[in-house]
Amino acid sequence: MQRTVVVGMGPIGHRHARAYTESPKAELVAVCDRVPELAKAAGEKFGVPYFTKATDMFAAMAPDICSVTTGGYEYASDHYEPTMQAFEAGCHVLGEKPISNDLKCALEMVECAEKKGLCYGIDMNHRFTPAARQAKKWQDEGKIGSLLFCNMALWIGKFMPLDSVYYHFKALNPHSVNIMQYFCGPIREVATFAMKAPGRDIWSTQSTAMRFENGAVGHLTSSYDIRRGHPMERCEVAGVDGRFVFEDMWREATLYSAHTLVKEVYTNPVFDGFEGFYDTFRDRIHFFVDQVDSGAKPEEIDGSGREGLEASRVIHAMIRSNENGGAVVKVSEITE
Ligand SMILES: NC(=O)c1ccc[n+]([C@@H]2O[C@H](COP(=O)([O-])OP(=O)(O)OC[C@H]3O[C@@H](n4cnc5c(N)ncnc54)[C@H](O)[C@@H]3O)[C@@H](O)[C@H]2O)c1
Repeated sequence: MQRTVVVGMGPIGHRHARAYTESPKAELVAVCDRVPELAKAAGEKFGVPYFTKATDMFAAMAPDICSVTTGGYEYASDHYEPTMQAFEAGCHVLGEKPISNDLKCALEMVECAEKKGLCYGIDMNHRFTPAARQAKKWQDEGKIGSLLFCNMALWIGKFMPLDSVYYHFKALNPHSVNIMQYFCGPIREVATFAMKAPGRDIWSTQSTAMRFENGAVGHLTSSYDIRRGHPMERCEVAGVDGRFVFEDMWREATLYSAHTLVKEVYTNPVFDGFEGFYDTFRDRIHFFVDQVDSGAKPEEIDGSGREGLEASRVIHAMIRSNENGGAVVKVSEITE
């Protein structure tokens, strides 16, 4: 049984806390927010002690796992401090995406966890679904064969004022880039064009061409300019023996074999299927708890801090490319 805590009790912190209360292998023992009213409201809601300083919580509760669900500038600058404090206290950490808005901070957190032998996961919840696992199974069984291309698209409506011109790149695309890396491996180079949609002052829609280390090619479209209510994500991966598409994270995955006209489809079941976006958090968070509880080594963590770092490195390469009129940028050259 893992003793778990959450730092940062905004809407996402509440999802993490709820997921811990629903895991048979976890016990939520405390919550923390630096805003006293938010800490108190969350503590009372979940019936656990609450704190306004993470270090006080770590000292008093000696947790095994800490979720870091803070936000800050570009929805990520506040993750660094409590994450490092959690590692200092000997805690495994499940952090929210993006790992950080700053690549140097991200690298420091990853290296700190590695040095201390602690598990570090990032909430890449979009791919912790039965449909994504089915797609991965088809791939592992050789049903699509040697990789050719990956087309990924992710779009949501986010119309409130945002604190940085690259907020959409940095805050949304850790999910989509990680999904592309999950199926196709490391990304070698990118070329990005972005636009500021009518009435917007940020780069709110972008299109990136990519080449993977293994030679396959890819494409990522993302946007903050499309209202919710319709599907919001689509991933297509093709190889010489077939192609699969997984739609909207958990709704459907379809395999189109190159060797038959019969397609295979996984459809989210009405009974016992995913009911909404929260279920992606539950799945991902329970997966992390299960891995830690079963003694997984830090390098075995699925959706690790290092994966979060590599996704952010690609996003920083996309930003550099966009700043240079769509020039090709090598991901290996990106250090900040
Ligand atoms: N995985 C997903 O699908 C998904 C979806 C939306 C948001 N997110 C991510 O989740 C994170 C949180 O989002 P949110 O909307 O709940 O943010 P939020 O700003 O509403 O909440 C963050 C909370 O953290 C608290 N906080 C910040 N630093 C702290 C510290 N050092 N100690 C204690 N409390 C601290 C703030 O007071 C605030 O209440 C962001 O990083 C965001 O990018 C992930």
